[in-house]
Amino acid sequence: MTAMLTVDDIVKVYRAYGSQVRAVDGVSFQVEAGTTFGLVGESGSGKSTVARCALRLIEPTSGSSSIDGAPIGALRGGALRRLRARTGMVFQNPVAALNPRLTIAQSIAEPLLTHTNLRGRALASRSRELLDEVGLAQAHADRLPHQLSGGQCQRVGIARALATRPRLLVLDEPTSALDVSVQAQVLNLLQELRREHALSYLLISHDLDVVRYMSDTAGVMRRGSLVEIGPAAEVLVRPQHEYTQQLLAAMPETPGALPLRLSGVDEPEQGAAAETREKRILS
Ligand SMILES: Nc1ncnc2c1ncn2[C@@H]1O[C@H](COP(=O)(O)OP(=O)(O)OP(=O)(O)O)[C@@H](O)[C@H]1O
Ligand SMILES: [Mg+2]
Repeated sequence: MTAMLTVDDIVKVYRAYGSQVRAVDGVSFQVEAGTTFGLVGESGSGKSTVARCALRLIEPTSGSSSIDGAPIGALRGGALRRLRARTGMVFQNPVAALNPRLTIAQSIAEPLLTHTNLRGRALASRSRELLDEVGLAQAHADRLPHQLSGGQCQRVGIARALATRPRLLVLDEPTSALDVSVQAQVLNLLQELRREHALSYLLISHDLDVVRYMSDTAGVMRRGSLVEIGPAAEVLVRPQHEYTQQLLAAMPETPGALPLRLSGVDEPEQGAAAETREKRILS
């Protein structure tokens, strides 16, 4: 297998107001092409920082990363932008991640205007295709973010991340702000999209169920370091490291909760069906 993302010995020290925080302390891992790497760990353990350093959204203090074999550290200007266009990011708070003054169609068109030459009819057509891919109805296109549900806003976030046809998505707590039933729909959509487009995911979540459900490989972070890494089914079921065992033990005692939570729900409420139902509720 080839690596879609290689993270090599990343260190990030934040300096603020004269003090230093060693947020990431020598983290290395690979996301194999076409797979999902799940990163878990308590709040403040450095998960988001590692991901941002890996995509060079922030400059690591030391260490390097490469995307699809291309070292990202050496790139500047246009070359860096082109490589970034091959990655997408989905954030935790879907409503806040959207510009409140842009319609959904405008939000989806934005990355296309920045990174592609699509204009006019071709732009509109690609935007429609993206709406469709994430299970939103064309009628959503002219709405503003506050006129959509949290789950629908996250679908817009995913459409934006997919706009430039990336091969790697970083999903930073993509469902943490969503209602439990909507979480499953968004996770299932992400699974479908991954298969359909042969995507690779770096998934960050503090929810071990989510990581277990989604990931091939899992890494456990604690205070800036990866303390355990391996097949998700092993790391998150029979952890070797004491810290992972504690994380698992801290989960609510609900054996079998995962399949119930994630598959015992209705099929994703999508497109036209969602639209009709909303109209029914409104009328
Ligand atoms: N811009 C910044 N300036 C200074 N310190 C920061 C900055 N961003 C993050 N930190 C600190 O770095 C550490 C790691 O933060 P990070 O956001 O990467 O953790 P996380 O694992 O993603 O946490 P969460 O699960 O809460 O999102 C924390 O101690 C945090 O306070
Ligand atoms: Mg974070």
